[in-house]
Amino acid sequence: MEIKREKIILCLLVTVAMGFFCTEGRDPVLHRVGGGRFTWAPGINFTEWSRHEHFYIGDWLYFGFDKNIDNVLEVNKDSYDNCTETNFITNITRGGRDVFQLLEAKPYYFISGKGFCIKGMRLAVYVEEPTAAVSPTNIASQSNMEIPAIIFPLLATALAWTF
Ligand SMILES: *[C@@H]1O[C@H](CO)[C@@H](O)[C@H](O)[C@H]1NC(C)=O
Ligand SMILES: *[C@@H]1O[C@H](CO)[C@@H](O)[C@H](O)[C@H]1NC(C)=O
Ligand SMILES: *[C@@H]1O[C@H](CO)[C@@H](O)[C@H](O)[C@H]1NC(C)=O
Repeated sequence: MEIKREKIILCLLVTVAMGFFCTEGRDPVLHRVGGGRFTWAPGINFTEWSRHEHFYIGDWLYFGFDKNIDNVLEVNKDSYDNCTETNFITNITRGGRDVFQLLEAKPYYFISGKGFCIKGMRLAVYVEEPTAAVSPTNIASQSNMEIPAIIFPLLATALAWTF
C-alpha cells in the first residue's frame, strides 16, 4: 500500500516536471545557415539543411559568406521561386557575417543575388510558435536546448523508487 501511494505521488511529480519541461521558455537558437561558419555558398543544398532544423520565433539565422561575391536578400515567395532580386524586402548583406532574427511564425525566403540563386543559393525557413510546436522529439533534436536542472534529481528518484 505504502509503495503504491509513493508511486502515485511519483507519477504526479514526473507529470508536473514534464509539463514544466515542455512549456519552459527556450533560449533563442542561432542557426548557421548551411551548417558551418562560411556556408552561405554555392553547392550547398539549403532545402536539405533546413529539413534538419527547427526554427522558432526569436531564433537567429547566421549567414557567413564572401561579401565580394555573394549577398543575402530577404524576398517574397514569388521572388524565391523565380530567383528575382529586384523587389527584395530586406538586404541583409553587411560584412559577410550577417545575422537575421526570425520574429514571426511564417515562412521566410532568402536568396543570393548576382545569379547565385539559380545555382541553388536560396533558403526557405518555416518559423513556428515555440509553445505550440515544442514536443519531446523536437527537444531531443535541439542539441543546444537547455534542460532544466530539476529534471535530473526527479528522474534519479523516480528510478530509485521504481526498481
Ligand atoms: C535538395 O534537397 C531536397 C530535399 O532533400 C531535394 O528534394 C532536392 O532535389 C535537392 N536539390 C538538389 C539540387 O540536389
Ligand atoms: C514567376 O514565374 C512564373 C512562371 O514561371 C510566372 O507565372 C510568375 O508571374 C513569375 N512571378 C514573378 C513575380 O515574376
Ligand atoms: C545589398 O547590400 C550590399 C552591401 O551594402 C550591397 O553591396 C549590395 O549591392 C546590395 N544588394 C542589392 C540587391 O541592393
